[in-house]
Amino acid sequence: MAQSSAGKVALVTGASSGIGWELAKQLAAKGYKVGAVARRAEPLADLVAQITATGGQALAVPADVGAREQVEAAFTQVRAALGPVDFVIANAGIGRPTLRDPVNMADVESTFRINLMGAVYTLSAALPEMLARKSGHLVAVSSLAAYRGLPAESAYCASKAAVNVYMDGLRMHLRGTGVRATTICPGFVKTPMTAPNTFHMPQLMEPAYAARKMIAAVEAGKKVYNFPGRLHLIVKLSRWLPDAVVCWAMGDYDTEAKQAVANRQK
Ligand SMILES: NC(=O)c1ccc[n+]([C@@H]2O[C@H](COP(=O)([O-])OP(=O)(O)OC[C@H]3O[C@@H](n4cnc5c(N)ncnc54)[C@H](OP(=O)(O)O)[C@@H]3O)[C@@H](O)[C@H]2O)c1
Repeated sequence: MAQSSAGKVALVTGASSGIGWELAKQLAAKGYKVGAVARRAEPLADLVAQITATGGQALAVPADVGAREQVEAAFTQVRAALGPVDFVIANAGIGRPTLRDPVNMADVESTFRINLMGAVYTLSAALPEMLARKSGHLVAVSSLAAYRGLPAESAYCASKAAVNVYMDGLRMHLRGTGVRATTICPGFVKTPMTAPNTFHMPQLMEPAYAARKMIAAVEAGKKVYNFPGRLHLIVKLSRWLPDAVVCWAMGDYDTEAKQAVANRQK
C-alpha cells in the first residue's frame, strides 16, 4: 500500500455493504480515488454520493466478481475514469451454510465461485499493470474460518482456506516484482452477512473498526493479518480439539443451517 495515498487509486470489491463499504469510505477519506465494485448499483451510488459529499472521489462500478469478463470490464472502467489502479482489495464474498443431505450444491458452487474465483479474478485483473509499473498492493479478505473446517460451514471454510493458500503462493511468486500481497482474516464483524446468525459471536466487531484495523495492517506491510487476537488464538487452538468438542461448541448447527437456507428460499 502506498505510504502517501493522495491521488492513488484503490479498487474495492463488495463495496455495496458491510466491511467493503467501510473500506471504501475510509480509503476515500485518506485521499484514494476509489473504484467501488459490487452487483447492486443502488447502494454503490449511495456510497459514491457519501464519498463525494465529503470531498472524496469515487466511481460506482456494478459487476459480478464471479464473472471474469465483468471483473476485467470493471478494471477497464476504473482505469479510464480514475487512472492506473495502485491498490486492490478483493473483499466481495458470501456466507451460506452447507447442508448435509441433500447438499445445497448451488450454494456450494456460488461460494467457491464468488469467494475464491472472485478473488482470483479480481487480483489477476490488477496484476499485468502492477507488474509493468513494478508497484501495487493486492489484498484478499479471507476469514478466521479459513483455519478450521466447521460443521454446516464446510464450503465457506474451504473457500477461505483456499484463498489463504492461494495468497501464500501468490505473495511468494511476487517477490522482487515491487507488487505486494496481504491476506486478511477477520473474526466476526457486524454486517448484513452475520445479521441472520442466531448463535453467540464472540468479540463481534463494528465494520468501521474492522476496516480501520485492516487498513492499518496493510499500511504496516503485514503478509497475513488475523484479528481479533484472542479469537484467532482460540481458532488456531481449536485445530487440536477433538471433533466432538468443536461440534458441542457449535450448538445445534444442523437445525440452524437448515433454517438459514429455508429462510433465504422464502
Ligand atoms: N462479517 C463477518 O463476520 C466476516 C468475517 C470474516 C470474513 N468476512 C468476509 O468479509 C467480506 C465482506 O463480508 P461482509 O461481512 O461485509 O458481508 P456483506 O455485508 O454481506 O457484504 C458482502 C459484499 O460482497 C458483495 N458481493 C457478494 N457477491 C458478489 C458478487 N458475486 N459480485 C460482486 N460483489 C459481490 C455484496 O454486494 P452485492 O450483493 O451488491 O453484490 C456486498 O457488497 C467477505 O469476503 C466475507 O467472507 C466477513
